[in-house]
Amino acid sequence: MTDTIQRVRKAVFPVAGLGTRFLPATKSMPKEMLTVVDKPLIQYAVEEALEAGIEQIIFVTGRGKAALEDHFDISYELEMTMRERGKSLAAIENIRQKPGSPVYVRQQEPLGLGHAVWCAREIVGDEPFAVLLPDELMVGSPNFLAQMVAAYSRVGGNVVGALEVPDSETDKYGIISPGRVDGRLTEVTGLVEKPKGKAPSNLMIPGRYILQPEVMRVLDNPVRGAGGEIQLTDAMAQLIGRQPFHGYTFNGARYDCGDKAGYIQANLALALARDDIGPAVRDFARGLLNDVGRG
Ligand code: G1P
Repeated sequence: MTDTIQRVRKAVFPVAGLGTRFLPATKSMPKEMLTVVDKPLIQYAVEEALEAGIEQIIFVTGRGKAALEDHFDISYELEMTMRERGKSLAAIENIRQKPGSPVYVRQQEPLGLGHAVWCAREIVGDEPFAVLLPDELMVGSPNFLAQMVAAYSRVGGNVVGALEVPDSETDKYGIISPGRVDGRLTEVTGLVEKPKGKAPSNLMIPGRYILQPEVMRVLDNPVRGAGGEIQLTDAMAQLIGRQPFHGYTFNGARYDCGDKAGYIQANLALALARDDIGPAVRDFARGLLNDVGRG
């Protein structure tokens, strides 16, 4: 790239989804508030973004999502009562964001991920931005977005997460047509959302993106794609050949918390990794597995 590579300061979190896969849990609670051990999914994603150097958090939200806004606000009664009782505020102190962030915009209708991201266009403006899908929980050090930002600072353009999945699962995701491979970076030569029939590869996009603002101009003229929805993947595909475009393979663990089995696995893995509850959970899980083994 001859152009200077602009820093990524803003991150968009599409959180307007209905969460029908987790009913009845998500009937009156946003699916992004589902907890893994003791923290809601959205907080993991926001912390990942802040650790990666993001300064402006943008939520694309919808009706029935007020709990998300409250989570990142001051909880006056709670904090006052805890202070009066001499209790530590450590667990909630860092959640509150700086004044003016997050910004909330609404997606009035569930028209697809591309449409959700486009709803943030006025706040994103004319600069590169990240997108994080909070139901994809990523655990690694440095975290996934931080690794992507580091790769982006070398190659610029667009960088999306890339992860291998079994052939049987390619129809659930955005799939990359891979070009030249250089370490963890793979050149993207094509993109297809939820391919029917033979997929171009088994490299999927696990909900992490660094995108140039031109994708918003593509989304100004939306096209309905897979499932009749306005797909981010289709809009991104329009940028290939016009701008650098790479996939970045994450060095860490991924939990698909949009799926019940993945969500339980995340809870188990993160609980086992904890010093406070890990030993108790480990003993219990061992006993349970032994019982199952004995039939
Ligand atoms: C979305 C994206 C897809 C991506 C996936 C990751 O699909 O459209 O490209 O691979 O998230 O979880 P959804 O899960 O909303 O169907």
